[in-house]
Amino acid sequence: MLERTFSIIKPDAVAAGLSGAILAEIDQAGFRFVAIKKESITKREAEGFYAIHSSKPFFSGLTDFMSSGPLYLMVLEKDNAIADLRKLMGATNPANAEEGTIRKKFARSLQENAIHGSDAPETAAFEIGYWF
Ligand code: RTP
Ligand code: MG
Repeated sequence: MLERTFSIIKPDAVAAGLSGAILAEIDQAGFRFVAIKKESITKREAEGFYAIHSSKPFFSGLTDFMSSGPLYLMVLEKDNAIADLRKLMGATNPANAEEGTIRKKFARSLQENAIHGSDAPETAAFEIGYWF
């Protein structure tokens, strides 16, 4: 089923000059770029976006990191986009990510892990609406 998901190239990857390589991976995997914008976000915006994690011990570090520099906000479309992007991204901790995934290739740590992708239809709808 043709589906939309929301993705972010996170500040670590943008700062390291990896945006082009990651955009190429997404393109080659068959996603259509419905919308894309490069922005710096505030800590407050990051807190709203990751509100589901507000009680976690890593919340403050995560929202500092996400507001630390420019990132790419994207709406992506393809059949089975939500699950397929998660597969392309790899596990949250790059140490556990499968060979060939974006996090295996480009992420540097559990927190600075290069890319975000929505994890369910409801979160995709919320996240697309939050940024676009
Ligand atoms: P995302 O939401 O960014 O796509 O990542 P995810 O689903 O793979 O992982 P999630 O559990 O939703 O965590 C969101 C982001 O928080 C950072 N994180 N830090 N223990 C930690 O220090 C820790 N755990 C997670 C990562 O940047 C993770 O992607
Ligand atoms: Mg998540």
